[in-house]
Amino acid sequence: MDEKTVKLMDEQEPIPSHILERMEECRKKGMEVPDPSLIKRPAMIQGIIESSKINTGVLDTVAAQIHDGMSTQEIDDIVSEYTLGHGAVCAPLHFEGYPKSVCTSINEEVCHGIPSRHRKLHDGDIVNVDVSTIYNGWYSDASRMFMIGQVSEARRKLVEETKKCLEAGLAAAKPWATVGDIGYAVSKYAHSRGYSVVRELGGHGVGIEFHEDPFVSHVGKQHTGMVLVPGMIFTIEPMINAGKAGVVIDPYNNWTIYTNDGKDSAQWEHTILITETGNEILTY
Ligand code: MF3
Ligand code: CO
Repeated sequence: MDEKTVKLMDEQEPIPSHILERMEECRKKGMEVPDPSLIKRPAMIQGIIESSKINTGVLDTVAAQIHDGMSTQEIDDIVSEYTLGHGAVCAPLHFEGYPKSVCTSINEEVCHGIPSRHRKLHDGDIVNVDVSTIYNGWYSDASRMFMIGQVSEARRKLVEETKKCLEAGLAAAKPWATVGDIGYAVSKYAHSRGYSVVRELGGHGVGIEFHEDPFVSHVGKQHTGMVLVPGMIFTIEPMINAGKAGVVIDPYNNWTIYTNDGKDSAQWEHTILITETGNEILTY
């Protein structure tokens, strides 16, 4: 735990004893249990919920304004204006040198597409808009796909089935299940539809930092990986490819990830809280 986390944890209500006991049982069975710093306490959850509300407001605003002919820089402007206007900060801006406030990934771009005045949305494009928000220091992260004008049947299907991949992952994200159960559910659904799943990138813990443990792979084996404990907050954000799973990184900007075969890719993302009974989507 870093200093910021230690201080935060000290100020919080303790983790309920029945949860600590169940974690200990899991540990004795040889399961990987989360560090206590990954179990968010009620006051922290409240902060992340407020951040998530702004995040959802950003995506709703993009949804209302996105259109054929618009540049991806205009999306960046909308995201930045709404976020700053609500007293929040765009997490991507200057994150490890990232130059913009949002990621806009079109067609064969898997993720981390960089907004530009020179890149316009065209009729038939599919685009992922990935918004990450900091409010009062709390992080939230979500993305949606948008279909521009008349898209092909194949693209529409990829977008809709990728959303179902996220939903399959959400259904598996239950207390005392494991991270592997999520990846298993996502990849099982994706493969049943003839798609492949990107392996190099995945979901992540989120809230105190932009990217926390665990890494949430979208491929996995049931009953493996870190056990999911009430109070954990992380993203599920499957990147699903129409062709093969392989990806390449842009050698010029060192950010944008593309499918290796040039075929389309789609992604949907939510930030969720593991509860005592299931999960709560914070970025609805
Ligand atoms: N939102 C992306 C994620 O889910 C992160 C983008 S990092 C950026 O992790 F710097 F490229 F924005
Ligand atoms: Co994310």
